[in-house]
Amino acid sequence: MTAAVTIRPCTAEDCDAVVALWTACGLVVPWNNPAADFTLALSKSSSTVLAAIDDGGRIVGTAMVGQDGHRGWIYYVAVDPALQGQGLGRRMVAEAEGWLTAAGMPKVQLLVRETNQRVLAFYERLGYARSPVTMMQKWLTNPSP
Ligand SMILES: CC(C)(COP(=O)(O)OP(=O)(O)OC[C@H]1O[C@@H](n2cnc3c(N)ncnc32)[C@H](O)[C@@H]1OP(=O)(O)O)[C@@H](O)C(=O)NCCC(=O)NCCS
Repeated sequence: MTAAVTIRPCTAEDCDAVVALWTACGLVVPWNNPAADFTLALSKSSSTVLAAIDDGGRIVGTAMVGQDGHRGWIYYVAVDPALQGQGLGRRMVAEAEGWLTAAGMPKVQLLVRETNQRVLAFYERLGYARSPVTMMQKWLTNPSP
């Protein structure tokens, strides 16, 4: 099934389908506006959202990827629940890593919510290791409604 999938950067027209996928995958939380996240990522040359498209033209996977001038970051890795366990998640992360390598980034980092600990095993299978750091954060604008 995933052999027929092609991967390309998203365009603005993909927003609704991408947000629907993120919602189906449990990645949407009240303090983030996923459509605003999507639009912001597409508005910068330093970031994008990669999408996997099946042979029917449907978006079945995503990975948001970007670099901050020091490190590469991956967000919103998602695979259609009906297609999980067939290697597409691994492929999306590999595509994002390739994007970052092409951008000259020496390291890739990602965040896993404390409520989503079961995904740690997925990233460990892909060669990721837990980092001995504590993330701190502060909103610079009000979170989007
Ligand atoms: C996490 C997610 C993207 C994985 O996608 P997937 O297509 O099911 O993963 P793959 O089939 O490519 O799996 C890659 C490897 O990880 C392993 N793996 C996947 N999920 C795993 C899990 N929960 N526990 C242990 N191993 C897992 C697979 O067995 C596979 O191993 P192998 O290639 O060595 O045989 C998908 O489950 C998903 O969309 N989850 C909901 C959204 C989410 O939590 N995203 C991450 C936010 S940080």
